[in-house]
Amino acid sequence: MSRFLAGFLFAILLAALGGGYCLAHFDFSSSPQPGRAEAWLISRSLRWFVRRSLPNPLPPEPPDDLSSQAAGQMSYGGACSGCHGLDGNTPSRFGLQMYPRVPALGSPQVQSWSNAELFSIIQHGIRYSGMPAFGKIYSDDSIWDLVHYVRSLSPRRAP
Ligand code: HEC
Repeated sequence: MSRFLAGFLFAILLAALGGGYCLAHFDFSSSPQPGRAEAWLISRSLRWFVRRSLPNPLPPEPPDDLSSQAAGQMSYGGACSGCHGLDGNTPSRFGLQMYPRVPALGSPQVQSWSNAELFSIIQHGIRYSGMPAFGKIYSDDSIWDLVHYVRSLSPRRAP
């Protein structure tokens, strides 16, 4: 057997052992704190998927003014605060036990999404995370109001 083939088989054996070890230690519970590497990997792939699935055409965005933000805040109180917390920045007790954990909506991670991306996230939700899709619950305009409310939570926009 050539040395190359032996090395190749050894690499496959190592990968199988590593995969088996990971599977044996993996469970579907949401209790553990998500690891750094996992959170990084998931957030990178989420960015890629969200960018890829932007609504086309994007429904026209109404002006981002106080009345739109106030309408968004009203919907937020009923639909989102149970997980994201009353003020959007203090995830609820339940949100903190989800996997991945519910992020603070004013955080740089969330505020770095574009308005169109936020629209898409709220409209379609995020699979395997508990973030629901609101596209069949709210009109496009109401989703834009929610986007504007989320945007108003940015510390840069604080009065
Ligand atoms: C049942 C719990 C739950 C409800 C209700 C909920 N969310 Fe979420 N949301 C989540 C979870 C969990 C995540 C994290 C998903 C992830 O990081 O993969 C999330 C993520 C998000 C994100 C993306 C943040 C990011 O960068 O990962 C936005 C924006 C968001 N939610 C807005 C809303 C809005 C607006 C509402 C109400 C219309 C809402 N959510 C209702 C659980 C919820």
